[in-house]
Amino acid sequence: MGQGKPLTPIVIMIIIFELKRSLDLSTAHGITTMIVCVCHALNDRHVQQCIDDGANSVAKLARKCGAGTDCGACVCELRAMLVQNSAPETRQASQAA
Ligand code: FES
Repeated sequence: MGQGKPLTPIVIMIIIFELKRSLDLSTAHGITTMIVCVCHALNDRHVQQCIDDGANSVAKLARKCGAGTDCGACVCELRAMLVQNSAPETRQASQAA
């Protein structure tokens, strides 16, 4: 594994934009979101939508939205989301909480 790429100014701007958008959504709708993939400014709802649309592996998520294809720091979180979604009862329990 490499050390990853340094963040470019445009990536930093995207991160700031996405963080602000997430905070705005949280405030406006009482919804909390979490940035999952910083490199591609993807939050958990976007990744979840990709999973719901059939991406059932890290490779399929990468093809669908690009998550995990840059520095790779998000791959563990992507795997955790995939595992959580592989057991329907687990997902229902986490949504009820
Ligand atoms: S956080 Fe770098 S590829 Fe997802």
